[in-house]
Amino acid sequence: MTAQRTSGLVRPLLSGLRARRRPLLCARGAAEQSHWPPEQGSGRGLGSSRQLRDVPGEARSADQVTVHFINRDGEKLTATAKEGETLLEVVVNQNLAIDGFGACEGTLACSTCHLIFERDVFQKLDAISDEEMDMLDLAYGLTETSRLGCQVCVKKSMEGLTVQVPVEVSDIRRELEVGKQSKQ
Ligand code: FES
Repeated sequence: MTAQRTSGLVRPLLSGLRARRRPLLCARGAAEQSHWPPEQGSGRGLGSSRQLRDVPGEARSADQVTVHFINRDGEKLTATAKEGETLLEVVVNQNLAIDGFGACEGTLACSTCHLIFERDVFQKLDAISDEEMDMLDLAYGLTETSRLGCQVCVKKSMEGLTVQVPVEVSDIRRELEVGKQSKQ
């Protein structure tokens, strides 16, 4: 699968950056709509660092799903997601301290939301789109069980899910900008 993915390196440079796509809207279960996109200045660019926020006294409801992110330094971040959120929304809404995650706010233009899944979970995920595949081509540390967190919806069956945040992150928008400037 990796070999197939690496064949499409040029297309996203053209198509992915031409127009700003809308973030994926998952089918919501009983979950309330989450706050998305985040307010301006929410700090999702590279270099942001957020802490896991506890919500004291908030009761767990039937549509909540526990998910774990293994951060780049090996730290396990545990979040209570709502069914119907994307994994990007989980990171943003719970202020998980994953630097640079979701820089394009789910518009399939950066690949900074790259996550690595366990194989059995990966096989049950919804089908991958051509656009997501194109952006994954540009992600560092690509594996056969890689997906973009902004394109994966949380489901009740994912209770206890653990995903790995790759050690390296690439924001293709920045790399293209640097490339443009070095040609000038
Ligand atoms: Fe940019 Fe997912 S947040 S591609």
